[in-house]
Amino acid sequence: MKLFDVYPLNDIVIDKALGSRVWDDKGQEYLDIYGGHAVISIGHTHPHYVKRVEDQLHKVGFYSNSVKIPLQVQLAEKLGVVSGREDYNLFLCNSGAEANENALKLASFYNGRKTVIAFSKSFHGRTSLAVAVTDNPNIVAPVNQTNNVVFLPFNDATSLQQYFDAHGNDIAAVIIEGIQGVGGINVASETFLQLIRSLCDQYNAVFIADAVQCGYGRTGKFYSQDFSGVDADVYTMAKGMGNGFPVAGIAIAPKLKAKHFMLGTTFGGNHLACAAALSVLEIIEQDNLMQNAAAVGEYLITELKKLPNINEVRGRGLMIGIDLPLELKDVKKNLLFKHHIFTGESKPNVIRLLPALNFSKADADVFLSAISKELQ
Ligand SMILES: Cc1ncc(COP(=O)(O)O)c(C=O)c1O
Repeated sequence: MKLFDVYPLNDIVIDKALGSRVWDDKGQEYLDIYGGHAVISIGHTHPHYVKRVEDQLHKVGFYSNSVKIPLQVQLAEKLGVVSGREDYNLFLCNSGAEANENALKLASFYNGRKTVIAFSKSFHGRTSLAVAVTDNPNIVAPVNQTNNVVFLPFNDATSLQQYFDAHGNDIAAVIIEGIQGVGGINVASETFLQLIRSLCDQYNAVFIADAVQCGYGRTGKFYSQDFSGVDADVYTMAKGMGNGFPVAGIAIAPKLKAKHFMLGTTFGGNHLACAAALSVLEIIEQDNLMQNAAAVGEYLITELKKLPNINEVRGRGLMIGIDLPLELKDVKKNLLFKHHIFTGESKPNVIRLLPALNFSKADADVFLSAISKELQ
């Protein structure tokens, strides 16, 4: 059997990783400012993470959600504290798409409605409903097409207000990334998020904050939507939650009530996943990683804005987009193959920085020196 060829691959094999460094099978060292797509939150092979997952593996790796799993309760309590949402409830699952899928189902169960508002350039995953609210027709299969989803322009208060004025009582949910990741690092404005909150309140629609990429402390706040000062009804999270262990979740406001069997999963919230997720939160708290993300992110953004030949630098904390003129679209490739630095991208011309939350100022300087050479 061969692999189903869906990923264009760099000809690199990573076989060792530590902190913000990875090494290939020939011993070449790379600086990792991509984190495998915002996944590595506390650094590769963090000793506390390795120990906690290893210890758990020796005790019990998995048992189903038909028994009590105290680690889930501990994780919910810790997440409540670190995210400042102690009164929310946690449903655990396995991926960002699954988190959004469940959040949308929950919204529709709650108010009995079908219409979901999503925004231009959104990305919410590849499963059925998640891909239906994703603004990319190329990855929507005919079976995923639905009239239940309406796409409105991102950050456009007038069109959102008008849509609610006309159809408010049909709207099940509004789903929005606090900072669009795949769409090119576009920050949702605070006033737009506040408007979503007030319209959802007025019409009893559910405000779903997709924090899969922009959440988990990456921006300096636990959820990037927190900059707006309003709460969402449901927060979806994945990527950084397990530092590479597949674990995801949705944090649910108390007004949305659980019923047995309304949501479910075989693997979600298993013992190993909880051990991984708890170790991540412990390190985020103990090492003040949100503060570090804010400080190093601000430094990077300030310094990047001084460089020539950049259209725009966008983002917050350690979620940064460098929007380059189209003729500089090879910069990302050069960073990887000439300077041995992994970065992300939003095609065709935005470089995405998504490093671990303990990314250091010294490593930021290594990157700044490399990219400034490429931009001369
Ligand atoms: C904002 C956002 N939501 C959802 C997803 C889907 O997550 P997953 O690939 O874990 O299903 C992604 C993945 O990139 C994402 O960036």
